[in-house]
Amino acid sequence: MAPYQGNEDKTKFYNLTLDERHAWLIKTQNLSPETIAILKGENGLKIEQADHMIENVIGLFSLPLGVAQNFIVNGKEVLIPMVLEEPSVIASASFMAKLTRPSGGFFAQTTAPEMIAQIQVLELDEIDSARQKILAARHDLLEQLGKVDPVLSKYGGGPRDIEVRIISESPIGPFLVVHLIFDVQDAMGANAVNTAAETLAPKIEAITGGKVHLRILSNLADRRLARSRVTILKENLAFGDFSAEEVRDGIIAAWAFAAVDPYRAATHNKGIMNAIDPILIATGNDWRAVEAGAHAYAARSGKYTSLTTWGRDNDGNLVGMIEIPMAVGTVGGATRVHPTAKAALSLMKVEHAQQLAEIIVSAGLAQNLGALRALATEGIQRGHMNLHARQVAITAGAEGDEISRVASQLAQEKNVRVERAQQILTEWRNKNE
Ligand code: MEV
Repeated sequence: MAPYQGNEDKTKFYNLTLDERHAWLIKTQNLSPETIAILKGENGLKIEQADHMIENVIGLFSLPLGVAQNFIVNGKEVLIPMVLEEPSVIASASFMAKLTRPSGGFFAQTTAPEMIAQIQVLELDEIDSARQKILAARHDLLEQLGKVDPVLSKYGGGPRDIEVRIISESPIGPFLVVHLIFDVQDAMGANAVNTAAETLAPKIEAITGGKVHLRILSNLADRRLARSRVTILKENLAFGDFSAEEVRDGIIAAWAFAAVDPYRAATHNKGIMNAIDPILIATGNDWRAVEAGAHAYAARSGKYTSLTTWGRDNDGNLVGMIEIPMAVGTVGGATRVHPTAKAALSLMKVEHAQQLAEIIVSAGLAQNLGALRALATEGIQRGHMNLHARQVAITAGAEGDEISRVASQLAQEKNVRVERAQQILTEWRNKNE
C-alpha cells in the first residue's frame, strides 16, 4: 500500500471528500462496502447491542473516526484508525509519520503478553515463613492453575510464575502480596487473570493460614511492555526558518524538560496518550487500563517522568524511543462485539495483540514528536488555529468548499469565531445569489 497519490489538489488524503476517501479505502485496502457502512456509522453499534454491554443504557454516543496516514511499523504500511474529538492530532501524527519514512519508519517490539494478578494476604503471624511456603508450593500451584483456562492453554497462554512480596509497612501493618504472572496471549486478559487469582485464593489461605483479601489484576502491566524506536534523518528536520540542528536540539531540550519535571512530564505524556487512547477506543480496548498503566510506569522510579526519550545518533539524526505497558487485546471484550472495533482491526490488518501494541506505541511516539517539534519551534497554536478554524467554519454552517475558504479567512484575520464565520458566509452567499 502506498500513501494516497492522486492528482493536483487531491494528493492529500485530507483534501478528498468523504466519498472519495471511502472509495480510496475500498480500492486500496480491499474494504467491503459493508465495512465502509460500519465505519460511516450507518451500520455500527446498535442500541440493542449496547443494552447488553453496560447497564441502564439509554442511547449511543458518537465521536469522529479518522485515519492516520504514512505509518510504517516494522516494515509494514499501516493505516491507523483513531477515535477522538481533538483537532490536529491525526494531522500531526500523519505528518510526523511521513518524516520517519526515509529511515524506514518505526521499529517496535513487545515483551510476552504477561499480566499480573495480585492476591493480598492478611492475618499472618509468620510472614516470612508464609512466603517460603507459597514459594515451595509454586510448581504445584502453577500446574493446577494451568487447568483453569483450557482455551488459553490451547493457544499457548497460561500461568507462568508466582512471586511473593512482603509489604512491611502500611497503614494496617505488614501483609503479603502474591503476584501471579499469567500469559494472556491475544486477550486484554483482565477476565483470565482475575479468575486465576480467585481460583488461587483458597489454596493460598490453606498454605499460609492467612486470610486472602483482594484478588485483582494490576494495571501496572510492567511485564507486558511495548517499545518503539524511530530515526528522523537530519535532512528531514529543517523547515521554515528553522535549521535541522535547531529543530533536533530544540526537541531534545523539550524532552529534557519532561525528563526532569513532573509538571511538564504530565503534559508531555498527555500528548503521547493523544494518539494512544484514540486507537484503544477505535479498537474497543480499555483505555482507562492503559492510561493507568502508562502513568504508573512513568512514575516507577519514584519520580514521574517522560515515557519517551529523544537524542541524536552519531550522524546527527534525531532518535526517539518509547516504552509503555500495553495491555491490549484483539480477542474478547468489545474488540469482537463492537462492529466498528472489528472494522478498525480489519482496516489495520492486525491479527495479534502484540502487533496492535507495537502500532499503538509507534503512534504515541509520532504524536510526541509532533508536539515537541511544534513546541520547540513555532509553538502549538499556529497549526491548531488552522484546524480549529475549520471546526468553527463547520459550526457556522459552511459546507463543501466553503469550509477551507472560510477557515483560511478566519486564520488570516486571526479571528477564529463562529460569529465572524457566519458573517463571512452570509456575505459570500449574498454575493453569489
Ligand atoms: C495537547 O493536547 C498536547 C500537548 O500539550 C502535548 C505536549 O505539550 O507535549 C501539545
